[in-house]
Amino acid sequence: MTPRALVRYERTLAGLERKGRRRALAPQHGVDFTSNDYLALAQSPRLKAAIAAAIERGVPVGAGGSRLLRGNHPEHEALEAEAAEFFGTSRTLFFGNGYTANVALFSTLPQRADIIVHDALIHASAHDGITASKAEAVAVPHNDVDAFADAIRTWRDGGGKGHPWIAVESLYSMDGDRAPLAELAALAERHDGLLVIDEAHATGVFGPGGRGFSASLEGRDNIVVLHTCGKALGVSGALLGANATLCDYLVNRARGFIYSTAPSPLTAAAVREAFRTLADEPQRRAAFDELRIFANEALAAALGIESSGSQILPVMIGDNPRAVRIAARLRAESFDIRAIRPPTVAEGTARLRIAITLNVDRSAVAEMLERLKIAIVEEQP
Ligand SMILES: Cc1ncc(COP(=O)(O)O)c(C=O)c1O
Repeated sequence: MTPRALVRYERTLAGLERKGRRRALAPQHGVDFTSNDYLALAQSPRLKAAIAAAIERGVPVGAGGSRLLRGNHPEHEALEAEAAEFFGTSRTLFFGNGYTANVALFSTLPQRADIIVHDALIHASAHDGITASKAEAVAVPHNDVDAFADAIRTWRDGGGKGHPWIAVESLYSMDGDRAPLAELAALAERHDGLLVIDEAHATGVFGPGGRGFSASLEGRDNIVVLHTCGKALGVSGALLGANATLCDYLVNRARGFIYSTAPSPLTAAAVREAFRTLADEPQRRAAFDELRIFANEALAAALGIESSGSQILPVMIGDNPRAVRIAARLRAESFDIRAIRPPTVAEGTARLRIAITLNVDRSAVAEMLERLKIAIVEEQP
């Protein structure tokens, strides 16, 4: 018999089930059309060897404490220095993951008198940081530069005294489209504001040398960039690139940075190797570009839909249970595709999020699309 205290959780789970929104952990199965391991570095022998070599030279598995206490290891500092040089920013800070970094940055940097104007489709981790912030916050329609400008103007006209923060993703994680960064940077400049760019899905694969879409902006004092290390870089963690004063402020005030054990120094060693791999193996990015372009054209031809142009290919289904059924059917046919449902995406926009990585080749993409086309026709609402 279920203890009484657990009944409310079971009710909620049953409600999610009814709406086709109940989630469960599923094992990896079939060909990877889901991961963010865009350059197939997660299984790279170079990264594995870098970890083995780090162990060999005495780098510990665990940091043993917060960076502010005994957990600060030379591997963390070496990574931060190399990353600052690579991205052309005055300083970077290494966090255990992008979620923590986003929460830390949004809950710590914008001040009470400020406003955060963020794209409506920004990632949940940014949302959580914004919710914890003392600054006012407003969401604006996706990629609408005029709406960003209007929100700032309305706030100023209403007596807003601080600085505006504009928050976007350079490449949207569930839609695969890009933010108008140059216009937003100009807007931030005009209003004495700051622009936060989440490069989670662009770092390593786009921009010169894999520096991301913000490469020409990063390093300016009012630009804050988040580079996650668990996607194209194949490891885990996140590097926040910002003006040294802002980084120093985070070291002093960001609770997620201060009150948490530092990431494993072995992780830092692996991320350093990922950067070296980007530099030494430009053919990876070239192969990725070629496959991405092929997949976009093939998807548009197979389903007659407009494709995103990036490696993230959303196929809109709308109805939650139908999205789940189509994804399950493809998994049964050995193509690992997942349905993305609310609340991750807006109600009525359940979709398949197909990700193109170097873990697959052209023939796998073509075969998957053939199966997908059939599944979409046969799995009617
Ligand atoms: C846009 C975006 N920002 C931040 C994150 C969080 O990064 P991490 O997976 O390193 O916690 C993700 C990944 O889920 C993401 O897609």
